[in-house]
Amino acid sequence: MEYIEVTGGNPLRGSIRPAAAKNSVLPLLAATLLCAQPCTLRRVPLLRDVQTSLDLLRAVGSGAAWAGQDLVTQPARQISGRVPTALAGAMRGSVFYLAPLLTRAGWAELPLPGGCRLGPRPIDIHLAGLTAMGAQVCAAAECVVLRRHGVLRGTDFALRLPSVGATLTLMLAACCAAGVTTLRGAACEPEIADTAAFLNACGAKITGAGTPVVCIRGTGGELLDGCVHTVLPDRIAAATYAAAAIAGGRVTVTQCSPVWLAAFLDFLQGSGCEVARGENEFSITRDQDTKLRGGQELVAAAYPGLATDTAPLAAAVLLGAEGASRIYDGLFQNRFACAQGFAALGADARSEGRLLYLGGSAKLHGATVTAPDLRGGAALVLAGLGVGEGSCVRVLDAGHIRRGYADLAGDLRRLGADCRAGRTGTEAGRQTKKL
Ligand code: EPZ
Repeated sequence: MEYIEVTGGNPLRGSIRPAAAKNSVLPLLAATLLCAQPCTLRRVPLLRDVQTSLDLLRAVGSGAAWAGQDLVTQPARQISGRVPTALAGAMRGSVFYLAPLLTRAGWAELPLPGGCRLGPRPIDIHLAGLTAMGAQVCAAAECVVLRRHGVLRGTDFALRLPSVGATLTLMLAACCAAGVTTLRGAACEPEIADTAAFLNACGAKITGAGTPVVCIRGTGGELLDGCVHTVLPDRIAAATYAAAAIAGGRVTVTQCSPVWLAAFLDFLQGSGCEVARGENEFSITRDQDTKLRGGQELVAAAYPGLATDTAPLAAAVLLGAEGASRIYDGLFQNRFACAQGFAALGADARSEGRLLYLGGSAKLHGATVTAPDLRGGAALVLAGLGVGEGSCVRVLDAGHIRRGYADLAGDLRRLGADCRAGRTGTEAGRQTKKL
């Protein structure tokens, strides 16, 4: 089993550039199925979800190859509409293949997508939008099966809530449909504007992406071209490095606009960190001897609100802060499964449904804890930066973390943390050999 181990006490110093955003790269790789020419995505991190996407592309008849840190996709002549169960279940991002497979193969068969268990994650909005475009839902229980008869057609569709995934699905479906699609109540996350920028560079005609009303003029069945695209930086990884301020010191995040994580930086500032914002970089400074301020009531919401993916990171910052805090997640019912790990480290932390309660002023100590999901796991690693000098936190099941960070332990180590990644199986194996 993979783990990450952190020993507390080291202040962090240095600068770091986030890799390309996971939540852009995943829909972009699916979008390349709509392209008749090769596409290059720049500086893509080798995340587990990226590897799953590459396996999935290959399974449906397409493919991509690494050229250094770039990924170059090869257009496919023939596409199968079937996503293998293991790949669908390995990540939520498998849902992004519904629309491209339906467009290319005329049918799509997607066993239910996996991903972090953050509570119910239905895909009814994806399906309602695709149905409005003329798709037929043949099955939707254990495995979603869609078919189309003729080219999908443009429609005027209001999303019942601003789902990121559904906005992306419907944008992808509309690119090669016949006529104009208008999406109302669309999600506004930066990854949606980034996906639209990629599609437009490939010849799509999308306006308004990043606002609640998105208009897409379809090609009427023609495929798109290819392009070279520099993916948006990962704002959640950037927030993770910023939250490393728990350890004290000064961290500069480069090549990343502070606007993309403004709500999180405002939170850090409100907690007593010094935040210096430039045009395309920002620095967080924290004096190790000054207590952070708790007593906060945070609400995670859709962009530009405090991102749900940063809510566990904010919690890690608040564990030792002075005063009790509460964080409410408006998007997911089970965002704070990491509360158990926080408590094992000595924090007064408990989650009740969507709400996380933090007593504050915790004197954290070392322990072995388990990553419940991707961001909860990253938050436990961050909490480890705040334990007393010499104490050690071991986060088990760190495979979750590698779904979204290529090398979180290495990133933090380069900033000065005493942090490393390992595998329990390997160590046990080595010990057996010695004996
Ligand atoms: C994306 O998930 C991200 N995942 C998540 O990142 C992120 O937390 C989330 O957006 C919100 O920003 C990927 O991009 C792969 P939603 P997604 O559809 O698309 C409900 C991470 O750690 N809903 O905006 O699944 C849903 O249940 C991950 O990187 C429906 O009811 O999020 C949830 O309560 C975790 N019906 C809310 O909407 C639907 O058809 C928001 O979900 C779709 C969604």
